[in-house]
Amino acid sequence: MTIELRPLSYALGAEVRGLDLTNRCSDADWRAVHSAFLKHGVLLFRGQKITREQHIAFSRRFGELDSHESLPLDRDRTHPELLMVTNDAKEDGSPSNSRYTGQMWHSDLSFTLAPALGSLLRAVAVPPVGGDTLFANMYLAYETLSQRMQGIVDDLHGIHVPERKNAGLSAHWEAENRRLNPPVAQPVVRVHPETDRKALYIGEKVKCFEGMTPEESRPLIEFLLRHATRPQFVFRHQWQADDLLLWDNRCTAHLALGDYDPRHRRHLERTTVLGAASGHVANLESIA
Ligand code: SIN
Repeated sequence: MTIELRPLSYALGAEVRGLDLTNRCSDADWRAVHSAFLKHGVLLFRGQKITREQHIAFSRRFGELDSHESLPLDRDRTHPELLMVTNDAKEDGSPSNSRYTGQMWHSDLSFTLAPALGSLLRAVAVPPVGGDTLFANMYLAYETLSQRMQGIVDDLHGIHVPERKNAGLSAHWEAENRRLNPPVAQPVVRVHPETDRKALYIGEKVKCFEGMTPEESRPLIEFLLRHATRPQFVFRHQWQADDLLLWDNRCTAHLALGDYDPRHRRHLERTTVLGAASGHVANLESIA
């Protein structure tokens, strides 16, 4: 085994050193990476000058990749496994619809019936300052609730919608997003299938709890979000070009910060590893 691990924060995250992903990773290194992934939730591989094909090939070691049918307007035309997170203008000169991707606390594809297992985001170009990504450890968020509160959230389902923060996305994109992604109810607490630990499954895409009104739900959603994203549960990643960042969506939530000068290019490409089926299409009558 050739790799070394360097923890990135108290709560989660580790940098993996000694791996060059332009080469196929050996089975021994792969096992070490996989066990670090389960332990740390977020893994950073710096200085990876990999091609799109190498990005996809490495991602496939974690499982089947999503072809992004839920976000078809944001995927690459020739590589549907790659989701663009970019402020590059479109070919017709209009603004990118993916420039605000991730600017709400969330776990990838929570608004679908196959939420993501993991995501691998490769930085192609990043602004000189700002545009960092925050990650929260959702095991710690659950484990530090009182037993009484754990009992309450254990029984709830949150209704997730596919919205993206900030207005100004094209009307066509908004309409397609709503048509393809009806609101979905997901358990508020999920048991991680590989570690057996319970993790809170909450984010800003949760609009209410099933069977409760938005007004009844809002104070608890806000409390859980504030609790889960306390600084001591968070790791902040400052991007460099050629970073590859991998995270486990089953036990982390993340937020892309929009605090950068939009005249600077921010272009990242993401593969998404499919997770197990979860949740059901929401019964919106139960909201009333
Ligand atoms: C995402 O949520 O996948 C994008 C995160 C980022 O752009 O930092």
